[in-house]
Amino acid sequence: MAPIISVRNLTKTYANGFQALKGVDLDVEEGEILALLGPNGAGKTTMISIICGIVNPSGGEVLVDGHDIVKDFRVTRAMIGLVPQELTTDQFETVWNTVSFSRGVHGKKANPAHIEKVLRDLSLWDKRDNTLRELSGGMKRRVLIAKALSHEPRILFLDEPTAGVDVTLRRDMWKVVESLRASGVTIILTTHYIEEAEEIADRVGVINGGSLLLVEEKDELMAKLGRKQLILDLVEPLANLPQRFAGNGLSLEPDGLRLVYDFDKDSEQESIAGLLTRLGQEGIHFKDLSTRQTSLEDIFVSLVGGSK
Ligand SMILES: Nc1ncnc2c1ncn2[C@@H]1O[C@H](COP(=O)(O)OP(=O)(O)OP(=O)(O)O)[C@@H](O)[C@H]1O
Ligand SMILES: [Mg+2]
Repeated sequence: MAPIISVRNLTKTYANGFQALKGVDLDVEEGEILALLGPNGAGKTTMISIICGIVNPSGGEVLVDGHDIVKDFRVTRAMIGLVPQELTTDQFETVWNTVSFSRGVHGKKANPAHIEKVLRDLSLWDKRDNTLRELSGGMKRRVLIAKALSHEPRILFLDEPTAGVDVTLRRDMWKVVESLRASGVTIILTTHYIEEAEEIADRVGVINGGSLLLVEEKDELMAKLGRKQLILDLVEPLANLPQRFAGNGLSLEPDGLRLVYDFDKDSEQESIAGLLTRLGQEGIHFKDLSTRQTSLEDIFVSLVGGSK
């Protein structure tokens, strides 16, 4: 199946000469959830804005469902819903009008039942007659999401949708995202809450300094770069790691009181049981035992050099 979004050698140099995108290639499959991770200034919003037709590309090509985003702007824009990073809405309009109007802007016939569903899903129904300036910051963000969904887009961009919002809204949002995914909507999101990406995304892209460093299935990325460790707190400090245990993923921390064992997830039961038995036979006893697993966040930090 052809990708729903195809980005080829995309570059962007802003008017002041700053190069925000340096030749990005990316295919997005229909129906997937792709999380774009990257530190501040990486180029995430720039890329999203280009695909949505808000910012002009300097070079390269973007096709949305086979249509060029520059030549066929109206066609591609109508397929896309965008929840922008910045709050930009008319403060004096009501929630209902703002969201309904947005549907019309994208060339869709009025559909009050759909608008009602969107507002209910985002817990905005009670506020439908309030003007936007009467809403809290988190509620305004909900309105942005409602606007983006007003015209039933096939593709939804969520640019930092959960920045500065409370736990309830995040939950509501991820519920909405799940049900959109179930209905076949393609979702591209950016977030600085990497645990969210870890939970929700099918694939993860990492962007830094205007270049896409990698795009991979989340599970494969975790399997490839993720590690598991067993940590043993010892009863008695060890001066050195006995030679018999060296070179097997086992290391002794400098204080001599903790052994850290990097183990292979595929054979974890056996190898741990074996190690514990051998340690016991050597008279090395531990008083506490725990495991830790590399998170997507650890992987991200190691990829972008901790500049997040
Ligand atoms: N209009 C503009 N003119 C000049 N430079 C810009 C403009 N907009 C963005 N930039 C620069 O382009 C780079 C990428 O910005 P962008 O907003 O795409 O980053 P981002 O990955 O979305 O970051 P964040 O996580 O902070 O939202 C930044 O260095 C930014 O300063
Ligand atoms: Mg941004």
